Amino acid sequence: MKRIAVLTSGGDAPGMNAAIRAVVRKAMFHGLEVYGIQYGYAGLLKKDIKKMELGSVGDIIQRGGTSLYTARCKEFFQHEVRVEAVKILKELGIDGLVVIGGDGSYRGALELTKLGVPCIGIPGTIDNDILGTEFTIGFDTALNTAIEAIDKIRDTAMSHERTYVIEVMGRNCGDLAIWAGVTAGAETVIIPERKSDINETVAKIVRGHERGKKHSIIIVAEGAGNAFEVGKQIEERTGYETRVTVLGHVQRGGTPSAMDRMLATRFGNNLVYYGFEEALRLEPHVDLGLAKLCDELSI
Ligand code: F6P
Repeated sequence: MKRIAVLTSGGDAPGMNAAIRAVVRKAMFHGLEVYGIQYGYAGLLKKDIKKMELGSVGDIIQRGGTSLYTARCKEFFQHEVRVEAVKILKELGIDGLVVIGGDGSYRGALELTKLGVPCIGIPGTIDNDILGTEFTIGFDTALNTAIEAIDKIRDTAMSHERTYVIEVMGRNCGDLAIWAGVTAGAETVIIPERKSDINETVAKIVRGHERGKKHSIIIVAEGAGNAFEVGKQIEERTGYETRVTVLGHVQRGGTPSAMDRMLATRFGNNLVYYGFEEALRLEPHVDLGLAKLCDELSI
């Protein structure tokens, strides 16, 4: 293996830049040429590719978003489009591909691997919905953004004695909602993984009022239902003044937390090592360890 490429795909996540940086530095440490594909799989189909050097990944570890840009590429669900992508990668002499993204990006990477281009997935999504890792890159930052907003909303909720329904991101996964709900002290969370009953939610809010707690916070995961409908139901059934806030894409941006930067760096370093280890003829290790990680990233 001589030449690898890296791309970011799907929804961006804070920490993706740190992962790109680690992949490039680690690959260069092993003498590989590294190419960056811009705009994910869509960019691959357009051969939007550039050579990466150490300088390409300078001053990005602290930045949110992705310096390689990203896109959602519906055409990639089609087999013939993926065959075309493999043809392009082979033409460009790319021996292996690192895909930083969420579940859709992983599915694409798996298909390319089956078609003969070995791919490594690095879990980068605020949704925390990738099997095999406790945390994905971006989750910690998004969670902290969400709870900062929820804490602020609580101030006004308390002052006006209102009920707030707050929608957080997470298409099919309630992790952001659960973690935000638990760590910001919400009354309840409504998530796709658990059946929710509006009567129980209402009963919880009413019990709180009877105990003297006149404001409530209800967290709804994006994929679990319509926050506005939940708010309407609560107001109608309780008579308590209710407001709805959708946190939206603010959760996807911002400076990555230290945890996300470290997680991304370790994924980039360890996965390039393991994933391509056979091709690189390296001895497998249980974990590189932080001291070795510093050596290999020339830190
Ligand atoms: O996959 C991350 C995510 O932020 C989901 O939580 C959300 O459902 C989706 O992306 C939104 O995607 P888009 O930015 O394309 O609207």
